[in-house]
Amino acid sequence: MSIPIHKYDVVIVGAGLAGCAAAREVAAAGLSACVLTKLHPLRSHSGAAQGGINAALSAEDSIELHEFDTVKGSDYLGDQDAIRLMCSKAPETIRWAEKMGAVFSRDEEGNIAQRPFGGQSSPRACYAKDRTGLTLLQTVYEQAHRDGVDFKDEYYVADIIYEDAKVSGVFAYNLVDNEPMIFNAKAVMFATGGYGRAFKINSNAHANTGDALSIVARHGIPLEDMEFVQFHPTGIAGSGVLISEAARGEGGKLFNSEGERFMEKYAPNKLELASRDVVSRAITQEILEGRGCGEDKDHVHIDLTHLGADLINSKLPELRDLAITFLGQDMIKEPISIAATAHYSMGGIPCDVDGHVRRNTKELIEGFYAAGECACVSVHGANRLGANSVLEALFFGRHVGQSIVTDMKNNKIALKDAKSTDVNNIIARLEKIKKSNGDERVPALRNELQDGMTENAGVFRTEKSLLVQRENLKDLKRRFENIRIDDKSKIYNTDLQEAIELGHMIDFSAFIVEGAILRKESRGAHYREEFQVRDDENFLKHTMTYMDKDGELTTEYMDVILGNHELAERTY
Ligand code: FUM
Repeated sequence: MSIPIHKYDVVIVGAGLAGCAAAREVAAAGLSACVLTKLHPLRSHSGAAQGGINAALSAEDSIELHEFDTVKGSDYLGDQDAIRLMCSKAPETIRWAEKMGAVFSRDEEGNIAQRPFGGQSSPRACYAKDRTGLTLLQTVYEQAHRDGVDFKDEYYVADIIYEDAKVSGVFAYNLVDNEPMIFNAKAVMFATGGYGRAFKINSNAHANTGDALSIVARHGIPLEDMEFVQFHPTGIAGSGVLISEAARGEGGKLFNSEGERFMEKYAPNKLELASRDVVSRAITQEILEGRGCGEDKDHVHIDLTHLGADLINSKLPELRDLAITFLGQDMIKEPISIAATAHYSMGGIPCDVDGHVRRNTKELIEGFYAAGECACVSVHGANRLGANSVLEALFFGRHVGQSIVTDMKNNKIALKDAKSTDVNNIIARLEKIKKSNGDERVPALRNELQDGMTENAGVFRTEKSLLVQRENLKDLKRRFENIRIDDKSKIYNTDLQEAIELGHMIDFSAFIVEGAILRKESRGAHYREEFQVRDDENFLKHTMTYMDKDGELTTEYMDVILGNHELAERTY
């Protein structure tokens, strides 16, 4: 079968903030850049980031404090060289975004307004009302477009072309008509975002199915620190849709069914503005101990009524709308119902500080880069601070784009011509899935996956629950081979699409569970009931897990890069 081959200098997969920012840098340097996305760029999940983007701008704040808060927030698992780089470049990143056209909210003196977020020593989150991510995404997308980036919307990337430690392109098909094609490039960058859809209650878009992680892992490339999944404290009860940390930043208070402001027990200094892992565990603990609200006692309340209508309407209008739509509760008049929701994944495709993807703990892969939530640099370590993800996506997106340009100028990457036969394996696999006529239904398997991950690998984990989930996943992988695809057509075949995505979710979930089983300590977002404290002696290290052709996992560990900030107990 002959497949069309399109050639570019750089192919970027994913059109959120990291992908658009990288593409813009590459195009501005005069290279040909193509961005492949299974959505329209403005539907990317970066647009759902509500509350803010961190930068030490005020006289009371400093880059050192930003760095310290991030290291502490990461429970000391973040690499301090990467954290230093990101924090030191944050003010410049904000100025760049503003120059590109992003309109930030202002304070009374006309400076960029900043609100407090969890774990911060000083109010540091710059924002555009509660639509920060969307404002930035629109800006960067427009600029990338203006600079000539070739956006290909509704293209699904199903594989990389990888041989001899070099990536030379991707295999994709057009979702409209299922036509396959190869994108051959000197550099390929993954910026595909997060993978929270593996959990039942989550704040993620439907598209966040972690395709890139499983595509990479199936080639024997490791995934790093996958056990660290962040649960955001304030998801709308029942659905998990995000109520931004801005709600607590502006003064929202959490109450249980007994009217107790329970954060006084868990984080007496920072209260609701402790780091996310601490607040999520506190909420879940209150619910587990029977102090949840409502008939089912399955949520707590956040009260914003004391802020008044003017503040809510001017600073949190989107949140108010969401609570009215999903809960029928108006935050101006009454407390709203929330519970922890799977939100962000600290782990991902391992890469160095310039975005080069690691082949193992020592070697890099030629021509392959990653940035944003799908990547693990690692700036977030075991727990990310709110408003550092938008910063990470925007800063590292640009930075990795620049690193590609530099590598190309220095002749470090060359084009290796792709051929149709390079993609024989993936074509055979997709054909097999498409012809599936078994008994298992994709939505039912997906529900089982999500229920099991929430139940067994959620906010609180035990050896027993994790081992159960490891078996569940093996069973799901076996049953996946017996699915049924009813739609055999080529036009917008969402039946096929959802099946492929489910296969990806099953594979990367196994990495989450495996890392969690092996990490016999509690650190950041990973909480083991049998090992409730951090164990630096045995676990101050990054998990690197590999999958072989039979789906078996093996794990090794990689050193954490330490720096000025010495290990200390983390209290809020
Ligand atoms: O709560 C929020 O607005 C989310 C921001 C983030 O995840 O950084």
